[in-house]
Amino acid sequence: MNLCIYFVLVLAVFAGTAYTWNDVEIRNQIGPNIVLHMKCHMTNPTNDLGSKDLQFNTSHTFEFRDVDTINWKKEETQCLLRYGRYYHDVQVYRESFLTRSGILRSWEARRDGIYFKTRHDRPWEFKFHWIVGK
Ligand SMILES: *[C@@H]1O[C@H](CO)[C@@H](O)[C@H](O)[C@H]1NC(C)=O
Repeated sequence: MNLCIYFVLVLAVFAGTAYTWNDVEIRNQIGPNIVLHMKCHMTNPTNDLGSKDLQFNTSHTFEFRDVDTINWKKEETQCLLRYGRYYHDVQVYRESFLTRSGILRSWEARRDGIYFKTRHDRPWEFKFHWIVGK
């Protein structure tokens, strides 16, 4: 009996959160006339999200939904960001074990590197230096 009540409560909690979207945002703040190239793909399940060129001072948002209540195979999204000779392969999103919603992963490309934040009202955090290609 107790176990049954517990089970119903757990179900209710998950049902309330299962169907909202999570956002992954990529922003180009590198500099005037500099285009940011992005090429993204997902794993678990494998899905090519394609390539996109972002003009300066624009952004692109992917929306994700954690569909299973418990995620044995964590879905990951990887984006190769590049401008000129500079690039970095960034894991922009990794699903957690339990389903979440309303998650923000915001990435901002700047001249000196890639910055990150998880809430719009937070300051940017420096994350990666660009790798210099040939
Ligand atoms: C970037 O975009 C914002 C909002 O669209 C605008 O207010 C701002 O002037 C732009 N900045 C530059 C440097 O273009």
